Amino acid sequence: MALLMAVTAFMAQVTDGIDPSQCIAPLGMESGAIRDEDIAASSSFDSGNVGPHHGRVRTELNGGAWCPQTPATAELKEWLQIDFHTVHMITGSGTQGRFGNGQGAEFAEAYMLEYWRPRLSKWIRYRNHAGEEVIKGNLNTYLESKSILDPPIMASKVRFLPYSYHKRTVCMRVELYGCRWTDGIVSYSMPQGDKRGATWEFYDTAYDGHWDGEKLRYGLGQLTDGKVATDDFKMAFYEPTIQGWVGWKNDTRENKYIEIIFEFDRVREFTAVHLYCNNQFTKDVQVFSEAKIMFSVGGKRYKGEPLTFDYIEDRIFESPHNVSIKLHHRVGRFVKLQLHFALRWMLLSEITFDSAVVNGNFTEEEEEIVELDDNELQKDQNTIVGSENKNVVSAVNNPNGVGQYLGVVVGLLSVLAVLMLAAVTFIIIQQRRYKSSPRPSQIPSGCDKAALYREPSLGRLPSNSDYADVRDPEYAVPLQPSPLPRAPPPLHQFLPKPPPVPPPPEQYYAATEICNGGFVPPPPPLSTPPPVRLSRQPRYVSNMRTYVGP
Ligand SMILES: *[C@@H]1O[C@H](CO)[C@@H](O)[C@H](O)[C@H]1NC(C)=O
Ligand SMILES: *[C@@H]1O[C@H](CO)[C@@H](O)[C@H](O)[C@H]1NC(C)=O
Ligand SMILES: *[C@@H]1O[C@H](CO)[C@@H](O)[C@H](O)[C@H]1NC(C)=O
Repeated sequence: MALLMAVTAFMAQVTDGIDPSQCIAPLGMESGAIRDEDIAASSSFDSGNVGPHHGRVRTELNGGAWCPQTPATAELKEWLQIDFHTVHMITGSGTQGRFGNGQGAEFAEAYMLEYWRPRLSKWIRYRNHAGEEVIKGNLNTYLESKSILDPPIMASKVRFLPYSYHKRTVCMRVELYGCRWTDGIVSYSMPQGDKRGATWEFYDTAYDGHWDGEKLRYGLGQLTDGKVATDDFKMAFYEPTIQGWVGWKNDTRENKYIEIIFEFDRVREFTAVHLYCNNQFTKDVQVFSEAKIMFSVGGKRYKGEPLTFDYIEDRIFESPHNVSIKLHHRVGRFVKLQLHFALRWMLLSEITFDSAVVNGNFTEEEEEIVELDDNELQKDQNTIVGSENKNVVSAVNNPNGVGQYLGVVVGLLSVLAVLMLAAVTFIIIQQRRYKSSPRPSQIPSGCDKAALYREPSLGRLPSNSDYADVRDPEYAVPLQPSPLPRAPPPLHQFLPKPPPVPPPPEQYYAATEICNGGFVPPPPPLSTPPPVRLSRQPRYVSNMRTYVGP
C-alpha cells in the first residue's frame, strides 16, 4: 500500500503537455507577481513618475503608465520589457493607455511584440499565423485592449514596442496572459520538412529559430505548440485555417531516418514521449517503423544504450496515431530521437514529453557525477524486471524523503519473503520424501527453466495498443540461458509473490511437450488500436505562411 502511494505521489509530479486553452492566466503585471526590477525599458520620459514599473495594467501609480522618451513611429525605437526568468507559454497580450486620474491623454494605437528565450541568440519579432506583426492597441486611455496570440509565444522575456504610422506620443500599461511552460523544452533541432509535388509544403512554418539551408536549429515551432493537425493532411492545403503537418520523405535522406534533438531547461527524468503521427498509408504516409532514443546531460555525448522502440504498423486505420513510448526514467537535458521511415513519407504534428526535474549536481560537461548517476540507473535496470518495480526504484531516488520510508518497507518485505521461501522449501522437501518413485519432473536439458516459469512480461509482448513498451536491451531478457548469473539476485524474488508451489504432474508433462516442440508463445489477440481522435482545437485564421529565415 505504501509502495503504491509512493508511486502515485511520484507520478503526480510528472508534467504533461500544456493545453493552450487552459493557459490564459494573467502573468503578474497587475498582481505584482512580476517584480519592479524585472520590468525594464529602453527609456522613460521621467523614471520617477512614468518609469517602466509604472507600466502595469489597471494600476495608477504616480504618472500612471510607462511613457518613453521619444514618440512612437514606424521605426520601433522604444520598448518595455518583462523578464519572467523561466520560459512561459504566452497566449495573450493586453495594453492600456495612461489614464492618470483623467489627466492622461496618451495611448498606443498599435504595437509589436518581440521575445527572447535562452538558445535563441536574438530577439524574435512576433508574427501571428497570418504573418502579421502589428497588433492593434488602444482607442482611449482607460480600456484594456486584449489580443490572442496565435501561435502562442514561448519566451522568458517579452518586449512591447509601441508602433505608429505617424509620430505620436504614447504611454502604456501592459499585461501578458499564459502559464508556465512546464514541459521545459527550450528548443528542438531537426531537418526542415519537405515539399510534396509542386504545392504541398510540409514545412514547420511556426519555427522561430535559425533556418540555415536544410536545418532548423535552436527554435520551437509546430511540434511543440500544443495544437494537433487535421486527420487528413490534404485538408490543411485546401483549408488554410487548419493546422498542417511537418513531414519528410525518405528518398532525400541517406540515413533513412529523421533526427530531432530536444533541449530542456534542466536535467530531467523522463517517463514517456508522445508523438502524434499521421498514418494515411494509402497516401504513402505511415507512422515511423522504429524509434531510437538517446539521452545526454551536456548535449555532446549521448551515453548509455539507446532505447529502441519498434512500432507495429497499422494498415487498417488511417486516422492519426498518438504513439506513446515509455522512457524508463532515463535522465538528461538533451533527448535525441531517430525516427525511421516505414513508408515514403512520415508526418508529425506534436511531440510532448512526460518528465520531472531532477534535483542534483549535474555539470554541463557531464563529468563524473553524471557518470555515477547513469551507472546507478543502469544497475537499477539490471536488477529489476517489470515496469511497476521500476517506478518504485525511481521513487527511491526521488529526493523527497520517501526513500527512507521505502527502504524500511522493502527491508521488512524481504524478511517476510525469506521466511516464506524457507517454509516453501521445507514443504517441497517433505513432499519429495513422500514420493520416492521417480517422476518425470526433470526438465529436458535442452529446455530452459526460465521458458517454463517465465511470466509474460509486458515489455516483451508485441503490444496491440499504441502505448507500447520499448525494446530496451536492459529489459529484454533473452529466452536462452543467460551466459553468466547476474551478481545481485533480482529484487522481484524478494518481493511477495505467490510461493512457487510444485505444480501437479500434468503440468510438467505439458511443459515438457511445449519445450520439445519448440515453444512458441501464443500470439497476442489480433485486435487493432482504437482510432485516436482528438477534439479539435480552435483553428487559426491564416491564409499565408511565413518563415523566419536565417
Ligand atoms: C498523446 O497521449 C498522451 C497520453 O495519453 C497525452 O498526454 C497526450 O496529450 C496525447 N497527445 C496528443 C497530441 O493528443
Ligand atoms: C523509400 O521510398 C521508396 C519509394 O519511393 C521505397 O521503395 C523504399 O522502400 C523506401 N525506403 C524505406 C527505407 O522505407
Ligand atoms: C557541484 O559540483 C561542483 C564540481 O563537482 C562543485 O564545485 C559544486 O560545489 C557542487 N555544487 C553543489 C551544490 O553541490
